[in-house]
Amino acid sequence: MFSATTKLDATCHSQPRPTVLLTCADNIMPLSWHMPISKEPFRYAICVRDENYSYDLLHKHREFALNFLDYSFVEAHQKTGSLHGRGMNKFKESGLSKKSAMSISSKLIKEAYMIYECSVIDILNYGDHDVFIANVNIILNKQDKEVSPTLFMGRGVYETTSKNPIQLQR
Ligand SMILES: Cc1cc2nc3c(=O)[nH]c(=O)nc-3n(C[C@H](O)[C@H](O)[C@H](O)COP(=O)(O)O)c2cc1C
Repeated sequence: MFSATTKLDATCHSQPRPTVLLTCADNIMPLSWHMPISKEPFRYAICVRDENYSYDLLHKHREFALNFLDYSFVEAHQKTGSLHGRGMNKFKESGLSKKSAMSISSKLIKEAYMIYECSVIDILNYGDHDVFIANVNIILNKQDKEVSPTLFMGRGVYETTSKNPIQLQR
């Protein structure tokens, strides 16, 4: 039996979303609303709400990085997502380390296993988040085979993937 609702509320099943740490300038915020939108050229979309300090930074600098971190850093996701960055050093608060980027001025997170450096090419709005469309200039990859991706289920709940993937016919 289904229950019906028109809003995303607690009656909805949580949908695990791969979660990244967005860096813009030298601020960090976790972000689960993101997706690839073009393969060649590689382009990406992220959704950020105007109550977040990162929203102002994204409008000002028109660039960002997506830092993919292993599940062992789950507490850094929760910590950086429970603080607003204005006047605060979230690198210090989370214990994560800064690294310079190759194509943008925003800082990167050294502990990430993969990083996208992005330049914003368009900003759209269809509701309570702005959609930042970006070129992915550079993908930095540590080629770590033992990564456990960080998934966010909503309402403070996190998960990772199983260790028994199946390869179906290609
Ligand atoms: C795991 C997780 C995922 C989140 N995903 C998003 C998101 O996709 N978009 C958004 O606007 N806020 C998202 N948030 C909320 C912001 O990360 C949070 O409000 C943060 O404190 C903003 O930091 P800032 O004000 O320094 O930019 C998420 C929070 C968490 C904990």
